[in-house]
Amino acid sequence: MTQRKLSRRDFLKTAGIALGASALTCSGLSYLAALPPEFDMIDTSLGEQDTMSKKILITYATKAGSTVEIAAFIGESLSKRGFQVDVKPVSENPALDGYQAVLMGSAIRMGSWLPEAVDFVRKNQSTLTQLPTSIFTVHMLNAGDDETSRTARQAYTAPVRELLPSADEVFFKGKLDPKTLSFFDRLIAKAVENPDNPPGDFRDWNLIGDWSQSIFPTL
Ligand SMILES: Cc1cc2nc3c(=O)[nH]c(=O)nc-3n(C[C@H](O)[C@H](O)[C@H](O)COP(=O)(O)O)c2cc1C
Repeated sequence: MTQRKLSRRDFLKTAGIALGASALTCSGLSYLAALPPEFDMIDTSLGEQDTMSKKILITYATKAGSTVEIAAFIGESLSKRGFQVDVKPVSENPALDGYQAVLMGSAIRMGSWLPEAVDFVRKNQSTLTQLPTSIFTVHMLNAGDDETSRTARQAYTAPVRELLPSADEVFFKGKLDPKTLSFFDRLIAKAVENPDNPPGDFRDWNLIGDWSQSIFPTL
């Protein structure tokens, strides 16, 4: 499948829609734009809770739920490798004491990690740089193997990599289901939709599972 960057035209279209949506919001219909998507934020502990096994924190930021499911899936996989794993939303601001490694994941919105995930990295930068830390990014565009796609998706995480230069990094193609989006997000998604980037669930569970087997090899 051909992947592409958001074109200037897409951005202008999107900006117009965003302005329209703000006008809608200001006009007292904010409840329409703010309707929350329905999914469960997972906050769970997995694996044998004994003091011998190493403990990993997986913390994630999501808007529509697909990143939560990826975080939980990786958690299951790491627990099968014998680790104790806590899976927590970054919005809970989890403390890092007691963990031997941290995995952070965020969905992409408009070319960036979600702000709460970047804030978490900023606040915890000194601890995260001392621990084995890995990041995963869930997105839909620029997922190809070509250089242009690679460069475009690496730009999504450049601010995070600047804070965590030695973190391992992976990108997973995610899911876009208009039914799980707020009114505002649905408008934006519609504006950038095209035949090369249709909505759907493109998460590759085999790829995610294989990657989960390979991370933190020295732990
Ligand atoms: C409003 C909106 C903006 C998005 N912007 C981008 C983007 O700039 N680049 C990209 O690759 N994917 C983009 N996506 C796709 C999401 O990253 C993808 O659907 C991801 O799986 C969402 O994760 P979540 O379900 O955990 O929120 C966007 C999706 C929406 C709804």
